[in-house]
Amino acid sequence: MCGIIGYTGHRPAIPAIVEGLRRLEYRGYDSAGVAYEEAQGLQVIRAEGKLGALDQKIAGLDTASSVCGIGHTRWATHGLPVERNAHPHMDGDCRFALVHNGIIENYAELKAELMAEGNVFHSETDTEVLVHIIAKGVDLTGDVRRGISWALSRIDGAYAFALLSREHPGKIWASRKASPLLMGIGTGENFLASDIPAFLPYTREVVFLDNGELVEIDAGSWQVFDAASLEPKAKEVRHISWDVQAAQKDGYKHFMLKEIFEQPKVIRDCLAGRIQKGRVVLPELDALEVPGRLTIVACGTSYHAGLWAKYLLESWARIPVQVEIASEFRYRDSVFLPGDLVLTISQSGETADTLAAIRIAREAGVPILGLCNVVGSSIARESDAVVYTQAGPEISVASTKAMCSQMVLLLLMTLTWGVRKGSLPDGALQRCLEDLPKLPEALERELPAIRDKARTLSQEYSDARSFFFLGRGQNFPMALEGALKLKEISYIHAEGYAAGEMKHGPIALIDPHFPTFAMALGDELLQKVASNLQEVQARGGRIIALVNPGAAPVVEDPWVLPDVWGPLKSFLVLPAVQLFAYEMAVYLGKDVDQPRNLAKSVTVE
Ligand code: AGP
Repeated sequence: MCGIIGYTGHRPAIPAIVEGLRRLEYRGYDSAGVAYEEAQGLQVIRAEGKLGALDQKIAGLDTASSVCGIGHTRWATHGLPVERNAHPHMDGDCRFALVHNGIIENYAELKAELMAEGNVFHSETDTEVLVHIIAKGVDLTGDVRRGISWALSRIDGAYAFALLSREHPGKIWASRKASPLLMGIGTGENFLASDIPAFLPYTREVVFLDNGELVEIDAGSWQVFDAASLEPKAKEVRHISWDVQAAQKDGYKHFMLKEIFEQPKVIRDCLAGRIQKGRVVLPELDALEVPGRLTIVACGTSYHAGLWAKYLLESWARIPVQVEIASEFRYRDSVFLPGDLVLTISQSGETADTLAAIRIAREAGVPILGLCNVVGSSIARESDAVVYTQAGPEISVASTKAMCSQMVLLLLMTLTWGVRKGSLPDGALQRCLEDLPKLPEALERELPAIRDKARTLSQEYSDARSFFFLGRGQNFPMALEGALKLKEISYIHAEGYAAGEMKHGPIALIDPHFPTFAMALGDELLQKVASNLQEVQARGGRIIALVNPGAAPVVEDPWVLPDVWGPLKSFLVLPAVQLFAYEMAVYLGKDVDQPRNLAKSVTVE
């Protein structure tokens, strides 16, 4: 997720653009850049790191006379967060400058085509391919608008971009598909941006662009076209009453809630380009042998994602898996075997214990695969291969969408290795390839009802001082995650437990004031879980149980989730436990996004 902005009007463009990027930094902040018009043509300034670095570069330049430009703050998906990969990118003749948010799925084949035609590339980004293919389109059609339309007919993937043309001062072109883009309509000035905060101080008159629309703006006018037919389109101008903070949360009350509701998009982004022609495409694994044994090392929520994956990796890919808490692993005198692979999972890519674990494996000569959300993070850089979750920045301390993205990628890894070993259960690959792409829509449909139920139940149980979270199989890691979420944002004590383990002592704690949150989904372990819940009820324990229709044990508070196939059930369980914790914390008046004592990235031991 990146932030883009464009300005054309009467005021100096660069200060307005940089200020707008500052308000979009929550969308990504590993590098930034601007392009603006000046007498000699288009000028591009870029810098690695946060906006301050770009500010410093611009400070020494005379940009006051430029009244048209574009800007970008980056969350890397393709290519390290270094200056050469920062946006804006230009075509070979520097006739165009472009900023982009999204993922061009077929950028590799387009890049090969363009290189074969003599184009030279200076970055590893998919964005540089986009500006080159647009330049090719303009050459073929003789017109910028038609050239963009032609180029977009060649593109697969998600995009929201803004484009400057050296030959057309004061004009900006833009288009979107699957990534957000909107216009700010001012007096004698117009804006383009990924999100409202970018131009809110200048105008509250907004036009939301839809997929497949192409827009052309200058200081005093704007036009919207259908990107394919170039037919003009009428658009409504809407007045926005939000303040900047509310706008950065997209109108949600907290970043955590926004990130929970981003999970459908996260699944789409994780799958983008990774399911092609009926197969999983994970080139990051190509250079690695299928591991003889996999050691997953992580902390917190990422550790729970690893535990969840263990069940699939062992059952479908027949790979022995041990899942280790990094802070324990780093101080144990572990035994490594030939054929070992260490997989580290980390949203931030900076967790000290996980990083230390990598270095121990490295010393033992074990290859390391990273699963990270931050491109170019320490863990990513110290891994032999890295798969990026492309979940976009996760701002809230409580990790939510990151775990969803980790589970998607871990499932794709399992399928990749299972195919290579020929060990997948009959139909598993086909079913995953069919059902995974349907998940986002199912989740979008169900999330409002899941939230309503979470709000009702959290208020009913807000007097609890402790909770058990119980599950079996892949619902055991989900139980651990549910307990962690509730603890870390509502400060209610909670224990995640394997349901079958209750009778080995913990059940002594059960009484009417010690409720249980159970995962009793319609899988092969349901009857076992149901009998565990009877033991809890026999001791007066109250129970909330996540259940599927027609397969629900009798409990005080059944929480019905629609049934989805096999391991994909977990993608509905996850938001349920996240929203239960969220609504409880809100009801109890806690600081949801910055809980006490916690940091987003634990970069110390
Ligand atoms: C999750 O809600 C917590 N904030 C925490 O457990 C987190 O998952 C853990 O610190 C690991 O972080 P990482 O994924 O960035 O390595």
